Amino acid sequence: MKDWFHGKAVLITGASSGMGWDLALLLASYGAKLVLVARRAQKLEALAAECEALGAEVLVCSGDVSDRERMAAVAAEAQERFGFIDIAIANAGVGGLNPAPRFDLAIHEKTHAINVLGTANTLAPFIRPMVAAGRGQLIGISSLAAFRGLPNAASYASSKAAQARMLESWRVDLRPHGVAVSCIHPGFIVSPMTAHDQFQMPFMVPVRKSSLHIARAIAKRRAVYLYPWPMRLLTLVNRLLPTWLFDRLIPKLSGQRDDIEPHIL
Ligand SMILES: NC(=O)c1ccc[n+]([C@@H]2O[C@H](COP(=O)([O-])OP(=O)(O)OC[C@H]3O[C@@H](n4cnc5c(N)ncnc54)[C@H](OP(=O)(O)O)[C@@H]3O)[C@@H](O)[C@H]2O)c1
Repeated sequence: MKDWFHGKAVLITGASSGMGWDLALLLASYGAKLVLVARRAQKLEALAAECEALGAEVLVCSGDVSDRERMAAVAAEAQERFGFIDIAIANAGVGGLNPAPRFDLAIHEKTHAINVLGTANTLAPFIRPMVAAGRGQLIGISSLAAFRGLPNAASYASSKAAQARMLESWRVDLRPHGVAVSCIHPGFIVSPMTAHDQFQMPFMVPVRKSSLHIARAIAKRRAVYLYPWPMRLLTLVNRLLPTWLFDRLIPKLSGQRDDIEPHIL
């Protein structure tokens, strides 16, 4: 896998924290050239220094993924620096809870602006160059929450489902052009996003193990990848549950508290 990434130019959004930060470090150690994107420029500079210490060439581009024009400029800057971007990874995202009895439309809008439109704004500028070259990979970091409407998670689950469906359509459209599209669905990963106790998070995965899963899925050009395996299994069972059983079972199993106020994580 190390050789596979060596010399490839990889853009990663959400690199200032958690999964994106660790994935950047892993790929730097594999010899990839990196474009690091997030809003917090200082964090990105600190990460860039760590990646450079591992021998990687790095470009830092601060930006908000929900800003379409800024993301087009980021893509242009990335291509100017490295020529062709081999792999673009839309990892930036926000979590959060939005219980229906107190549903907050502003949180819903923001979640979709970042998780859905942010993915499109990040990846779409690379489609034409990749189609013209007949190669390239577009990656979205979705979630296992994409598969059913989990309690208190209308905004997050629907955003991850929309992101996954968009990537699925792109995958079909771009396959004949030599461009691979992957949708990766992590379970619960140790990161600032999961540093809370608002619901149960079984089979938690350390962030480096998560990065290895993601890197392997990319190298194998997996179309859809769910991990870790116990959560993959639970998700498959969950998808098969009839509605009447899902509605009664899932609120109990997820351990959601009913005193939660809507918020972004
Ligand atoms: N942790 C989990 O258990 C888990 C499970 C399934 C899926 N995921 C998904 O994995 C991805 C990474 O999550 P994480 O756990 O690493 O979360 P995290 O530690 O909270 O990091 C989120 C990253 O997204 C960036 N981001 C957020 N809004 C942004 C915006 N508007 N523009 C640009 N960057 C933005 C943040 O950077 P700035 O604040 O500097 O902009 C940060 O780097 C997310 O898409 C998340 O939904 C996580």
